[in-house]
Amino acid sequence: MKRFETILWESQETTLVIKLNRPDKLNAINAQMLTELDELFSDLSFLESYSSIVVTGIGKAFAAGADISELAQCTAENGAEFSRHGQHVYRRIELCPIPVIAAVNGYALGGGCELALACHLRFASTTALFGQPEVKLGIIPGYGGTQRLPRLIGISRALELMITGEYIDAERALSWGLVNRVYESDELLDRTMEFCRYLAQKPLHAIRSLLHIVTSSISENYELEAQQFGILCGTEDFLEGTRAFLERRSPVFRGK
Ligand code: COA
Repeated sequence: MKRFETILWESQETTLVIKLNRPDKLNAINAQMLTELDELFSDLSFLESYSSIVVTGIGKAFAAGADISELAQCTAENGAEFSRHGQHVYRRIELCPIPVIAAVNGYALGGGCELALACHLRFASTTALFGQPEVKLGIIPGYGGTQRLPRLIGISRALELMITGEYIDAERALSWGLVNRVYESDELLDRTMEFCRYLAQKPLHAIRSLLHIVTSSISENYELEAQQFGILCGTEDFLEGTRAFLERRSPVFRGK
């Protein structure tokens, strides 16, 4: 497997560790990162040489969302396509035949939270924060979050997170079933690797069958999400929300 820029990968025993590598931008997910993740997760013969995969972030964030400077370029014409690109890559991760564990080391917001949702399991550090703050930009989650979040934590809690855009800490994420385990920050990766060694002793074919059955039986309405995302990219509120973030001020929404 070749080396990438926005993601780094390394082998640790029989685990593939993938690190999101834009720490200066809190690992904001840009088009290049999506393309690189897609390429890596497309190579099944490479992935199948491992017994587990860990996705984590370099620096203080897991990922603080889709890259808002790219997102701000979206229009009513190309917004749905922007959404479909992320949906496609995340679905590929979800369909990976090897268990994928998100080791969430800090902010997991917007597209970063959705990336964690697309992984099979989520382990978090005590400092992790989860949220879908797209509403503060005048849009909605566009990388599968409107579908995966309600499935995982229930419609009521998912709607609360998506409508308010507020963040929850690791403890609440654990009690809501958004994460499987919580560890101290300095232990997160070691404890995740410990779990991966434990997984490596399990019967491979049974694990693959489980992943296949559970992930393929999920029926989602991704296309509706992409279409709504695209429509919202054509609104004044979206222009205001993204501009306000880039200009470091609070947005003033007018419902237009
Ligand atoms: N897209 C693009 N750049 C982002 C980003 C994103 N989603 N999130 C953070 N960054 C960048 C910031 O612009 C800043 O870049 P700069 O140093 O070149 O100005 C850098 O990452 C550090 O972020 P900063 O906001 O200064 O850190 P902070 O600790 O003060 O705040 C957050 C952290 C996560 C609260 C804040 O960065 C934030 O709200 N990010 C956006 C979250 C979001 O709305 N995500 C959903 C997008 S769909």
